Amino acid sequence: MDEVHQITCLSLSTSEVSGDDGWLSPVEHAVQSKLHLPKRRADWRLGRWTAKHAVQRHYSESKTPLLLNQIEVLAASDGAPELFINGRRAELAISISHSGGHGFVALGANQHALGCDIEKVEPRSPAFISDYFTETEQAIYRETEAAHQPVLANLIWSAKESVSKALRQGLRLDTRSVQIELLESGRPDAGPFRASFSMDGQSFRGRWCVSHGFVRTIATNSPTLNIRHFQS
Ligand SMILES: CC(C)(COP(=O)(O)OP(=O)(O)OC[C@H]1O[C@@H](n2cnc3c(N)ncnc32)[C@H](O)[C@@H]1OP(=O)(O)O)[C@@H](O)C(=O)NCCC(=O)NCCS
Repeated sequence: MDEVHQITCLSLSTSEVSGDDGWLSPVEHAVQSKLHLPKRRADWRLGRWTAKHAVQRHYSESKTPLLLNQIEVLAASDGAPELFINGRRAELAISISHSGGHGFVALGANQHALGCDIEKVEPRSPAFISDYFTETEQAIYRETEAAHQPVLANLIWSAKESVSKALRQGLRLDTRSVQIELLESGRPDAGPFRASFSMDGQSFRGRWCVSHGFVRTIATNSPTLNIRHFQS
């Protein structure tokens, strides 16, 4: 049987990010110096800060404590984040998201594709639903009680973003090529989902949760997954 894919995740907010730069590596300093838009710079810092603390947690039982500036998150040429420890590529896959001052990071084994996303729950327009959702997703949205539509719309959107990051494509991807199927969980605030990518038939598994007005999703192509700290 396949080993369960252990995923560690962490959410932190902008107010928790240190104002100094001592926690950045020299290469990260250089990257930051090119980020001139305040929001982009703040989001980038939030993503790195959250990622580095997630890595410290991930290794908390197995290694001597890592300093934040020994951990580097650098973007590959396609924009996907990659993790380095003491200058060497780490054997961990990483995914980063930020929304409304909240950062969200997932870490997992690097033999599996991994993506995560956080979205502030807000109403989505009819044009958004018809432009980005598949026919099946649109039908489910229409059948949902109006009060629950914003959560559902952001949840489906976030799950698509997580899959698009796992595929390392981001929104270069046609979001209608990813079909999200929410699975029964018996809970109103969290559950599993399945996703299929119509371009090559790949399938993904994921989890979602909603808390404090934000939806978070994680997607991976591993057959099994276990997530630590998802709803904390
Ligand atoms: C990935 C993408 C969908 C995320 O957009 P978003 O919803 O605005 O933002 P989120 O906060 O959820 O995610 C942003 C993070 O996605 C990650 N990301 C970016 N491109 C990625 C890719 N191709 N694959 C996986 N993850 C990616 C980054 O870590 C980024 O945060 P960071 O730049 O601060 O490290 C979007 O950035 C995208 O489509 N990127 C690809 C196309 C592009 O414009 N590339 C330019 C760089 S080459």
